This record gives sequence, C-alpha cells and structure tokens, in this order.
Amino acid sequence: MITDIKKLDEDLREILSEKRYLHSVGVMKMCEKLANIYNADIEKAKLIGLMHDMAKELTKDEMRDYVEKNNIECSELEKYLGGILHGKIAADMCKKRYDFDDEMCEAIAVHTTGKENMTILQKILFISDKIDETRDYDGIKELRNLAFQNIDKAIIKNVESTILINIDKGKTILEKSIKTRNYLLLTSEI
Ligand SMILES: [Fe+2]
Ligand SMILES: [Fe+2]
Repeated sequence: MITDIKKLDEDLREILSEKRYLHSVGVMKMCEKLANIYNADIEKAKLIGLMHDMAKELTKDEMRDYVEKNNIECSELEKYLGGILHGKIAADMCKKRYDFDDEMCEAIAVHTTGKENMTILQKILFISDKIDETRDYDGIKELRNLAFQNIDKAIIKNVESTILINIDKGKTILEKSIKTRNYLLLTSEI
C-alpha cells in the first residue's frame, strides 16, 4: 500500500480544484482527530480522508463510463444520478493505484450514504466528510461536538437531515441512507 501522504497529496492537487482539494485536506484532519478519539488506525483514516473525493470532479458521463468499463456494480438509481458514483470510482482508483485495503476502499465507496454494519474507520470517514473545517451550515457545530461524543448519533442525525432535505426538494432517497439509519437505530447504544 502506498502510504506516502506527500505523494498522494501531489496527485490530488493535480486532479482537484482548489476548493475541493481544501475540503479533502479538511476531511483528512477531521479523520485524524476522530481516529484519535475512537482508537482507529490514524494512518488509514488520514489516507482515506485525503483521497475520498478524488473522482468527484469527473463529469457524470465520465463516471457512468468508468463504472461500465471497470465492471463496478451499481444500481440503476446510482447510474441515473451519476454524481453518487464518485465514491465507488475513487475506491476503485485507490485500490488500483495505491493498493488501499478492502476496509479503506469500502469506506471510500460508501462515504456519501454510509451502509449497514460500518467499521469505526468507515464511520469516521462518513462523518468527517460532513463536518470538516471547510463546511459551514446551520447546526454544524452541534454535529461536530456530537461526533466527538457519540459518532453513531452524529451519523444518524446527518442521515436524517439529508433524507429530509431530499424529500423537501422532491429528490430521490438512496436505499443505503435508510439502511444506514435503520442499522444504527437498532444496534447502537443511543
Ligand atoms: Fe464525496
Ligand atoms: Fe467529500
């Protein structure tokens, strides 16, 4: 596995816009902080934080092409939406280019929606992506504090607001978001 953050950082700067690059660095920092709090692997957390959005600036058609050419499994809804595919594509790139392990790649693949039965590393990436220092929205301070206290509660809260926002806008809801919420509601001590 390539773990040289400097090399990955250089690659990322070439692929992403300044704004998204800064978000990626912000997520890396938040991943490090949460990995410390929850005793997760700090190096792995930083690597996935930095690289999770490496495919985000492909066009929707480039994303659809990539999943087809690389035989990446995805639902009709995911293909229709397009943008959501960036997680699975980044996971595939990180496997092939940097040999990230399966847990890390899965964390990257599902970073937008989460999934059932996430490992702590996967939970850390999911929530770090939503609360990094470059983001600003109503309630983010509270959500950050909650993430430091109880990561499961923070994920539930974030998934719920995402679902509600999508409903409000008349948009589709991804099944994985619902599964993430149900799983945590049934299994975590909240
Ligand atoms: Fe993303
Ligand atoms: Fe992101």
